[in-house]
Amino acid sequence: EEMYLHYHGLLLPKETHSLESLKFVQEFTFEDEDVVTVTYPKSGTAWMQEILPLLLNDGDLTPIQTIPNWDRAPWLEEKRLAVVVDQLKSPRALVTHFPYRLMPHSFHASKAKVIYVMRNPMDVMVSSYYFHQMAAFLQDPGTFEEFMDKFLEGRVLFGKWTDHVKGWRHTDLGDRIMYITYEEMVQDLPAALRRMSDFLGRKLSDEVIQKIAEHCSFKTMKTNNMSNFSLVPKIYMDSDKSPFLRKGVAGDWKNHFSSEQQAKFTSVIRKDLEKESFSLPWSLD
Ligand code: A3P
Repeated sequence: EEMYLHYHGLLLPKETHSLESLKFVQEFTFEDEDVVTVTYPKSGTAWMQEILPLLLNDGDLTPIQTIPNWDRAPWLEEKRLAVVVDQLKSPRALVTHFPYRLMPHSFHASKAKVIYVMRNPMDVMVSSYYFHQMAAFLQDPGTFEEFMDKFLEGRVLFGKWTDHVKGWRHTDLGDRIMYITYEEMVQDLPAALRRMSDFLGRKLSDEVIQKIAEHCSFKTMKTNNMSNFSLVPKIYMDSDKSPFLRKGVAGDWKNHFSSEQQAKFTSVIRKDLEKESFSLPWSLD
């Protein structure tokens, strides 16, 4: 466990997080123009790091060709933010895995907007399982079955998936928050980009939307060194074990779950959400 910090019930990798970085978040001053993408890990964060700055700069490709994704739309809670924060241009793009309850005071006081991206938890778990194999700063996931138990109990990075979703479903943010799914983005990226740009109040032509969609496709991102994490030294992330941009599809869980595992997974998720009024946008069978 010592690879991780324990912070308000969450496990956070020490490689990227510190008590100083967490204090920095609490003292961070949000601006009204800021836009934050919120995700549970492995739900499409890097994808949104590609998309969001392009939606906010009218499709200017310079940043995605010259700046690594983690500096284009930095993580609110990670050490790196303090280093790059002064270089961010307004409107700023940020990402976070934080649960709603840990968002800092200035976020609530501001008009900053949120795009919450949710992904089928079975695909999240599969993606996370491979990520734990390739990332040296994360604990070995053990067997698929063992990792599944940890995931369902919330003994994983940023806690339980259902807690994250529940927290961000019950906010008092009103029209400051929009919900989208990874699956919706996979199915029709230009339409998803249009929905996001409307929410952000950006007026973008169909050509610009199309151009952004091309540059944010799985194929293009996979070959862009500024987007595929190949600038991270191999000792931290070993893409020979599993590439960061691994498959980029919806439904890969079908290649990994036995029917018993699926039944168990589904029943735990359903139980965690049984008192909830919202329903999940995918069937878990
Ligand atoms: P897979 O492991 O299922 O391929 P995060 O950035 O939150 O860690 O999420 C990583 C997941 O998002 C990985 O899923 C990765 O392949 C996927 N992803 C990243 N960019 C994508 C894109 N342009 N299109 C589809 N999926 C993408």
